[in-house]
Amino acid sequence: MTGVWEDLLAAIGSCGRCKLGASRKNVVPGEGDLNARLMFIGEGPGANEDEQGRPFVGKAGELLTRMIEAVGMKREDCYIANIVKCRPPNNRAPEDGEAMACLPFLRAQVALVRPWVIVLLGATAVKHTLGDNYRVTRDRGRFTERAGVFMMPTFHPAALLRDGSKKRPAWEDFKAVRDRLYLLSQSRGE
Ligand code: URA
Repeated sequence: MTGVWEDLLAAIGSCGRCKLGASRKNVVPGEGDLNARLMFIGEGPGANEDEQGRPFVGKAGELLTRMIEAVGMKREDCYIANIVKCRPPNNRAPEDGEAMACLPFLRAQVALVRPWVIVLLGATAVKHTLGDNYRVTRDRGRFTERAGVFMMPTFHPAALLRDGSKKRPAWEDFKAVRDRLYLLSQSRGE
């Protein structure tokens, strides 16, 4: 890990920019391959993540891992992060101010990893990256290019656990991600 990453993780680890820092057990900066072609962005840590300091380790995380594997990829080859790095109490969605305070960290992570494709898991991730004009249900599965990075909204795995009818479209989205990565590797010659 380079010094820039170490500095970034240290800054995240000691952050007190919003009130979530006061109630966290552990900060959850993100994890995975620092050179990943594929990045996932979720909402924020839940109870399991807060306990372990790692993203997507609860039931939703297990499903995310299975879906990544189902399309022939490996979780450890991806980079996984969240909009906010500290657990919002009672698993509420992060407030706009909390997301704003935390977003510079995510932007730095994206700039350092330089992924080819970013999958946005759920409404909070979509809102704070693509913006207010996007809707998961309407825009899922569609890629939007921003500065050479292909961003795609899909359902949050927790939503799939609540509503099984979303699993099939989400599976289609994951296949589209795999195919896009393949096409990009052809066109970029890597
Ligand atoms: N849900 C999220 O959005 N992120 C996690 O890390 C875990 C659950």
